Amino acid sequence: AQAQDLAGDKAKAAKDMAFVFDIDGVLVHGDRPIAQGRRVLEILNGANELGIRIPHIFLTNGSGKPERARVDQLRRILQSPIAVDQFIQSHTPMRALAEYYGTVLVVGGEGYRCREVAELYGFRDVVVPNDIVAWDPSIAPYRVFGAEERASSRPRDFANTNIDAILVFSDSRDYATDMQIIVDLLRSEDGRLGTVAKDPVAQRIPIYFSQGDLLCPTEHPTPRMSQGAFRIGLEAMYKALTGVDLERVVYGKPELATYKYADEVIAGWMEQIHNDERLPRNIYMIGDNPASDIIGGNMYGWNTCLVRTGVYQGEGNDDQNPASFGVFENVLEAVQAACRKEL
Ligand code: G3P
Ligand code: MG
Repeated sequence: AQAQDLAGDKAKAAKDMAFVFDIDGVLVHGDRPIAQGRRVLEILNGANELGIRIPHIFLTNGSGKPERARVDQLRRILQSPIAVDQFIQSHTPMRALAEYYGTVLVVGGEGYRCREVAELYGFRDVVVPNDIVAWDPSIAPYRVFGAEERASSRPRDFANTNIDAILVFSDSRDYATDMQIIVDLLRSEDGRLGTVAKDPVAQRIPIYFSQGDLLCPTEHPTPRMSQGAFRIGLEAMYKALTGVDLERVVYGKPELATYKYADEVIAGWMEQIHNDERLPRNIYMIGDNPASDIIGGNMYGWNTCLVRTGVYQGEGNDDQNPASFGVFENVLEAVQAACRKEL
């Protein structure tokens, strides 16, 4: 009977915990799995002594393709079942903006992939920089615009179109063109190209960024500049040209809006697994980047675990943003430690 009570207590505790995984540097490196990732997902999907599923979601600052496509890719890399409902990438919470803006400029990403993402989110009229270059190539004087890009662009008379908001979804593939067009629009009267606002603040359209990471690790020996660096450059140019500060909204880790959105996704996943949408008391965030995963999780009251398989390579805990639950060699060690503590 004692053993049964213990198992009952453990099962109860297991229903009061959830995991939030960063992806890059924790479960995968680009297209390659991190060895312990697959085992962790097996454990949380029921291969544990209780035979119980433990809710877990994926929270990445990655971007640039539809959620379904990214989840399919992760399933292949990790050989594990992952549902779109348990996955959040940097621009996922931006779907909520679709009801507020009619025509939007979507910036970043490969080809026309981010247009596809925005349309899936329900944005009614999605313009990308290539549509504008196809309309008036002189807007981007150094751009070489190929026949293929021209054929797949959707030019229109932008002198008679108001763009209601700018949404930077992913890394710019052409800083010069994208910055020029964004600055033109920010300085225009209510998003009408070819105009210059008399009042740079009152007539300025809003701009949103899907995440703020300055750097991103790649196959290059040192990390490459990412959306945060692009934004800082843009802010400096805008200030120099207009004399006023650029107000903007940033999503992604470690921004509050993204963590609130994550709570909704955790609640939905609790409902699916335990038939109870209350948030668990013990949420563990496992990340490799102190400046996004860990600082955000700490601010939001989650238990944070820093792993050494990605961005962070230091000795001991991070000085500026120490992980509250500790530093681990890899994701498996972090999950095992959290389960030992709670169960
Ligand atoms: O910086 C963009 C992306 O590579 C970060 O991904 O999963 O570590 O948040 P993640
Ligand atoms: Mg990461």
